[in-house]
Amino acid sequence: MDLSIYRKDFPVLNDNSELAYLDNAAMALKPYPVIDAVDNYYKKYGVNVHRGVYKLSYEATDLYEQAREEIAKFINASFEEIVFTRGASQSLNLVASSYGLNFLNEGDEVITTELEHHSSHMPWFNVCNIKKAKLKYIPLNEEGRITVEAFKSVLTKNTKVVAITYVSNVMGYITPIKEIIKLAHEVGAIVTLDGAQAVPHMSVDVKELDCDFLSFSGHKLCGPTGIGVLYGKKALLDKMPPIEFGGDMADTVRKDMQTYKATPYKFETGTPIIAGAIGLAAACKYLKQIGLDNISKYEYELKTKAINELKKIKGIKIYNETAETGIISFNLEDVHPHDAASVFDNNNVCIRAGHHCAQLITTWLNTIGTVRASFYFYNTEEDIKKFIKGVKDAIEFFGKF
Ligand code: ALA
Repeated sequence: MDLSIYRKDFPVLNDNSELAYLDNAAMALKPYPVIDAVDNYYKKYGVNVHRGVYKLSYEATDLYEQAREEIAKFINASFEEIVFTRGASQSLNLVASSYGLNFLNEGDEVITTELEHHSSHMPWFNVCNIKKAKLKYIPLNEEGRITVEAFKSVLTKNTKVVAITYVSNVMGYITPIKEIIKLAHEVGAIVTLDGAQAVPHMSVDVKELDCDFLSFSGHKLCGPTGIGVLYGKKALLDKMPPIEFGGDMADTVRKDMQTYKATPYKFETGTPIIAGAIGLAAACKYLKQIGLDNISKYEYELKTKAINELKKIKGIKIYNETAETGIISFNLEDVHPHDAASVFDNNNVCIRAGHHCAQLITTWLNTIGTVRASFYFYNTEEDIKKFIKGVKDAIEFFGKF
């Protein structure tokens, strides 16, 4: 299977044939169908939705709401369970600010992990401080993984929320989430999943998982920037209050009262992210046509080949050799990850370096940061060669080994 045939759909790759783009965990590139969908909206419509009493606005509204339908199907959710946000960070914050601040009480327990992105962990740190709830961490195993056994060791009848990543953006490990969700539900806790690194790379079915909330971003999924999704079970979204108020989300507004539209609209105030939603729906269609199972398999194959090459080089510390996804975190011994990254850049290899907005895990790894290479389906074996050359050049440049 060679999914790199899809490279031709990406203008950035067509225009930069030398580029090895390996920063996909931060941002995926955009294919023509997505660019065309956004372009089409601006060229043919460019008007507001939900408000206009004219044909162009009705048509734009249809396009926008069809996008919601398409995105719902992508994760096997229902239309009204899809809230549009600016990205996974805003989605995760919405759950904490609405559900957390309204339904947690003093003494309740929230379980999270050191593998979380700041956007998954920090909102609950804040909520727990305000509500005097206890924030607990699942002890990671020696590889830095979340295990079901370790989860059981912190789960109690006081657990009300489990805020956890599906795939770590630093370690690339897949959390055994189905078992964790089942156990959490047995004590009456809800599970809010950070799906930012999962949904773009593997088939995700919210009904099968039975998660309560799932957050993800458009920009990591070949979609536009500035659009994200919060999936929530309808019964939960229905009982949660909005946290932002204003245009479009209001139903009746009087001096002495105000009411809101139904889910999902009560969470979407102001002019919506119309072009973003339309572009994201096009991205979902595009990825479905390639096949999410094909994508995860192909990325894993690339990552495995790259790791095998990396292991041949002396002086490299790989932090996540056994990851099931396309993410590699490593360091050149005694070289600051940002210094290493600059040498990669000189070789036209795009990677990310630093703490990846996940300082808990870099602290756990006892490092200030890592160099991270992350694959997507348009990467090739040629990209691996450039990446390995980048590593060797960095070693030479820093005069190591
Ligand atoms: N959260 C994104 C990353 O891991 C930006 O790189």
